[in-house]
Amino acid sequence: MAEPAGTSRILVTGGSGLVGKAIEKVVAEGAGRPGEEWIFVSSKDADLADAGQTRALFEKHRPTHVIHLAAMVGGLFRNIKYNLDFWRKNVHINDNVLHSAYEVGVQKVVSCLSTCIFPDKTTYPIDETMIHNGPPHSSNFGYSYAKRMIDVQNRGYFQQHGCRFTAVIPTNVFGPHDNFNIEDGHVLPGLIHKTYLAQRDGTALTIWGTGKPRRQFIYSLDLARLFLWVLREYDEVEPIILSVGEEDEVSIKEAAEIIVEAMGFKGELTFDTSKSDGQFKKTASNSKLRRYLPDFQFTPFKQAVTETCAWFNANYGQARK
Ligand SMILES: NC(=O)c1ccc[n+]([C@@H]2O[C@H](COP(=O)([O-])OP(=O)(O)OC[C@H]3O[C@@H](n4cnc5c(N)ncnc54)[C@H](OP(=O)(O)O)[C@@H]3O)[C@@H](O)[C@H]2O)c1
Repeated sequence: MAEPAGTSRILVTGGSGLVGKAIEKVVAEGAGRPGEEWIFVSSKDADLADAGQTRALFEKHRPTHVIHLAAMVGGLFRNIKYNLDFWRKNVHINDNVLHSAYEVGVQKVVSCLSTCIFPDKTTYPIDETMIHNGPPHSSNFGYSYAKRMIDVQNRGYFQQHGCRFTAVIPTNVFGPHDNFNIEDGHVLPGLIHKTYLAQRDGTALTIWGTGKPRRQFIYSLDLARLFLWVLREYDEVEPIILSVGEEDEVSIKEAAEIIVEAMGFKGELTFDTSKSDGQFKKTASNSKLRRYLPDFQFTPFKQAVTETCAWFNANYGQARK
């Protein structure tokens, strides 16, 4: 049945995660538009690694648009241990979602890649044209190749069927509802949790690695606002990097110092250099984004970290950790 003019039904896979919760919040706080129906789903609604369950989910909701966030996600140490699982799970999820979207006639899909899937040996800054230019870092090759195949599929669906399937490439995301698990999560939420425990237990705060690697971090609420723009306005099949500028890259040590200040931690800071640093840097260019949106204001890093720490302190009982 045809939709009434101006009506869109937007299905967000991975709706219970860090990025999904941020999109839900900005939509609820006024970024949603009349005529838009937003549906946020998690693995409880369907296991998207299963083709039948994915197809049934798409038939139930009949979305006109999809933001595809669901993925097996993890930090450096989880990636190193489970490269095969990252590859298989994510390839299945992505193939099921994109093909179901095609089969039910979805007008647009925005999927989510990551800057950590780019070639390990490369020139900097990296940009959207370089995704397939060489092998990814060996620590996360399973996740990286699976994510790269989304771009291959998007081009295939466009070439064979004219589908508007595209992808965004965020740098390191952080914010409320992140996974704050120290072993399995990403660096920033892991550091926030470690600082919380060091503060509570009166112990030193130990940072894994040298603290020297540099990263661009994007606040989940900024990313959410950019996702809405991509869904509504960005018309290319080619992916787009969503990142703060190159000048806003910070070292892990600098990030830790901001967390320490935000958490009011007064103890000692040490570095466990027996742990891996991962890639030294993966500086990304946001000039394509800036060509489209020269005036977009990112939340200052310190403010965003402070808000995230406040959320973690207030929600320690329920936070994923
Ligand atoms: N976090 C980052 O720094 C970062 C950086 C770049 C790109 N990304 C990408 O951004 C997207 C969202 O990441 P995130 O950090 O928000 O992840 P997250 O917090 O770990 O959330 C993952 C989401 O995927 C869902 N999910 C996982 N496996 C599923 C399955 N088999 N079937 C259905 N749903 C499944 C989870 O549902 P349940 O809650 O039910 O488990 C959850 O809603 C991912 O595609 C990720 O690759 C993340």
